[in-house]
Amino acid sequence: MCGIVGYTGDADATRILVDGLLRLEYRGYDSAGICVAGADGGLQTVKSAGKVARLLPLTTEVHGRCGIAHTRWATHGAPSEVNAHPHLDGAGNIAVVHNGIIENYRELKASLLRDGVEFRSETDSEVIAHLIARYYEGDLVRAVVRTIGRLRGAYGIAVISRHHPGEIVCARNGSPVVVGLGKRGNMVASDVTALAAYAGEVIYLRDGEIADITPDKVEVRNSVNIPVVPDVTEIPAETVNSGKGEYAHYMLKEIFEQPDAAANTLRGRLDRELGTALLSGLNMTPAAMAQVRQVVIAGCGSSMHAGMVGEYYFEDIAGIPTSVEQAAEFRYRNPIIAPNTLVIPISQSGETADTLAAVREAVNKGATVAAISNVVGSTIARECGRGVYLHAGPEISVASTKAFICQVITLLMLALAFGRNRRMNREQGAELVRELESVPELIRAVLDQAEVIRRIAEKFAAGEHAFYIGRGPLYPAALEGALKLKEISYVHAEGYHAAELKHGPIALLGENVPVVALANDIPGREKMFSNIEECLARHAPVIAVVTGDDRTAERYTEDIIRVPPCSRFIAPVVTVAALQLFAYYLASARNCPIDQPRNLAKSVTVE
Ligand code: G6P
Repeated sequence: MCGIVGYTGDADATRILVDGLLRLEYRGYDSAGICVAGADGGLQTVKSAGKVARLLPLTTEVHGRCGIAHTRWATHGAPSEVNAHPHLDGAGNIAVVHNGIIENYRELKASLLRDGVEFRSETDSEVIAHLIARYYEGDLVRAVVRTIGRLRGAYGIAVISRHHPGEIVCARNGSPVVVGLGKRGNMVASDVTALAAYAGEVIYLRDGEIADITPDKVEVRNSVNIPVVPDVTEIPAETVNSGKGEYAHYMLKEIFEQPDAAANTLRGRLDRELGTALLSGLNMTPAAMAQVRQVVIAGCGSSMHAGMVGEYYFEDIAGIPTSVEQAAEFRYRNPIIAPNTLVIPISQSGETADTLAAVREAVNKGATVAAISNVVGSTIARECGRGVYLHAGPEISVASTKAFICQVITLLMLALAFGRNRRMNREQGAELVRELESVPELIRAVLDQAEVIRRIAEKFAAGEHAFYIGRGPLYPAALEGALKLKEISYVHAEGYHAAELKHGPIALLGENVPVVALANDIPGREKMFSNIEECLARHAPVIAVVTGDDRTAERYTEDIIRVPPCSRFIAPVVTVAALQLFAYYLASARNCPIDQPRNLAKSVTVE
């Protein structure tokens, strides 16, 4: 989603800002812009619709030592040059970049229009520039403080002014802002990856805080303009994006990184002797764990699908009633949080607005809340204060792959820890530990099938529809497989429980609608073969995922993807790894922009 970068120091601001924008590209956006204060203080602004590559030629004329830049994901107003940020006030003295949505912008705009202010764009963000200009009386921080006092909604902003050379003022409420402390100046960004190359340490602003940044000083203030002492933390080494390497796309690289990512998630957390998982970040005593009566998992997109696999784990392994909530619905449903409920929000980025809202609702209702996140220091991780980090390394491709796999593994470790805390004996625990330890190898065995999967994917690349069906813990795997395909190939794909297919969707089957059937050797396999028969009877081609050298599927189809033998707990992991490759190769055959699919954003910071 939208990205912010700002720099002030003695280096060429344009170069650093453009580099920052390129590092933010993965988030998904549709226009970009940059504003740099020149030697005379004058603000030079260039913007363009489309990718940063289109902005680049325009930036050669823009020079200075301080500036702000933005990638925009359109909410209010189409993606166009005029709607791109930065936005300036009428006199061109103040420039603003904004992430989030100003919910009361219509009334603010109406009042500014009555005062004769002229608007150039259709965005909600432009009101911020005009308000700061209205409140400016020589002190930029004060003008920003007064402005944010008028704003309702979510924002992360960065502001520069012609009258304040070398100064950037930024503020946050519900949309991340990180200040980077560097050797040759200071920076601000909405995402730590944009400043990792220049800054060693960072300050994560909290909601309501404002930072006043100059080349050699950063001052943080609260919402009423009183200075506060910020927490300065080191940038985690795993933040640094090491590029695509030999791979055509980040997505393929991240799929192939999964054995290592899984090993990192598991590292130091499994105890063979005790037959359990040790998750220190959970910060719960055995007694507190034993008291948990209900688990509620909340997430969006792939994270929600991981949560649905987790539901099976918690009920099957630990015997704790578990439900999965679409994070977006959670707080609006007035959810019943019984005493001793553990809420587990899952978010790769740790910044998804809906999941964050669910966290706040759960905290307000008195639940114990433990996050599963990949980004150290992210808002959700910090607000929960307890949980488990994935340590999967940066995920750059918009479509989640390694984060999903590591989320599932983490949920299995959690279920194991809770299971051992109640009904599971040491031997059973040790068996699950052994299975978890084998996950990196099992994923590697799936990746070894890449060529076979590619050939099957290419065979179906011209189609426009697909169904995915699964049962048990492979039902969420079917949902995730279908999501991957639609995200990156734009093929209309739907995931269904195999038994649900005949309650409606079967009407759509035909020779141009292939069905990916997850027929792994887990309970329910026999029934899956009946479901495959139902599809074939409607002339739908079937692509079967099966376990090892299972020959049964050969009776039905020649398009078979083989995943290594494993228990029902690990089956979703190896199956989704195979479906990720299938989606990737199919999208690649269709020449799709795999890492940054149209309309999608990596981290969705608006509700
Ligand atoms: C976006 C991404 C998805 C992701 C979802 C949740 O829609 O495109 O890949 O699964 O957000 O993101 P989170 O960071 O909370 O896991």
